[in-house]
Amino acid sequence: MKVVVVGGGVIGLSVAWRLATEHDVTLVDPAPGRGASWVAGGMLAPVTESWPGEEDLLDLGSASLDSWPAFAAGLGISLHTAGTIVAAVDAADAAQLDVLADFLAARGRDVDRLTGRELRRVEPTISFRVRSGLMVPGDLAVDNRELLRALHSSAEAAGVGFVREPVRAVRREAVDLGGTTLRCDVAVIAAGAWSSGLHPALASAVYPVKGEILRLRARPNALPPPAHTVRALVESRPVYLVPREGDELVVGATQYEAGFDDEVTAGGVRDLLMYAETVLPGITEYGLAECAAGLRAGSRDNLPLIGWLEPGVLVAAGHHRNGLLLAPITADAVAAFVSGAAPPPVVRVADPARLKQRTS
Ligand code: GLY
Repeated sequence: MKVVVVGGGVIGLSVAWRLATEHDVTLVDPAPGRGASWVAGGMLAPVTESWPGEEDLLDLGSASLDSWPAFAAGLGISLHTAGTIVAAVDAADAAQLDVLADFLAARGRDVDRLTGRELRRVEPTISFRVRSGLMVPGDLAVDNRELLRALHSSAEAAGVGFVREPVRAVRREAVDLGGTTLRCDVAVIAAGAWSSGLHPALASAVYPVKGEILRLRARPNALPPPAHTVRALVESRPVYLVPREGDELVVGATQYEAGFDDEVTAGGVRDLLMYAETVLPGITEYGLAECAAGLRAGSRDNLPLIGWLEPGVLVAAGHHRNGLLLAPITADAVAAFVSGAAPPPVVRVADPARLKQRTS
């Protein structure tokens, strides 16, 4: 079949790479490998991203996490397997973590509760202001930029053709660019937050959720970054610190609904530095290598939209905070849809038909 994938973030690239073994695939994006995926923290964290009421998302994320080792091996990239620490600063933060721990324990998840002293035994650079926390061994992390480069080159090697142009609209069997139309058997809309403008069914289903991140680098004589990913609640404000190769530390992320504004704000940088310093005081000696903002693709129920919008038009968007995590299972599901097979059962919750049910 001739398939056009619209969008070259982690979802579009993964889908195109996966489909290219069986189909003639073209990917359209003016700047593949950029967008929200380029800015991401890289956590593959269904357990520490979850919250009571989001059981379907936890199950979907966990199924995708199971595919990640093989997915990464197929791309020739490595995963960060040290696990995640979740830290609480004040009493209200600790109470929040208790709610999370109870929820996870009830779902049979592997979580250890630790005192502040026990956390510092594991990560000695954590501040004395951290009073308690959780140890979550299962969550993984990936270098998002290494991932995007690997996906791009693997997709190219598998025969995916790249068209570096913006897309105006997607219709049955046609993708409209500025002056030309690409004809296809199946179009896959995987353009993240921009998907809303490409098909009428997505107009209010997907929307941008801005996130700012910082990249810090430990300078000589500074304390080293933590070995684990550290997530924290700092007086009810969430922050995460993800170690990378080369003494780098990604600090994220703010979260606002601000339309398509993707400018980094002074307030966003100040907040992230303040929360990060509360948890890891040693970061004040780090270099500030980069400030960046991306637009996540939010959806009304925080679940992605994966499935048919109409015959010949699939959507794979709305992954919100979980695009990297959900890339393998999304690619598997889209491949199944295109081939006329049943997608993995856990993906049923992402059926875009639920949008119609809600409005009717
Ligand atoms: N996955 C973390 C974030 O969206 O900030």
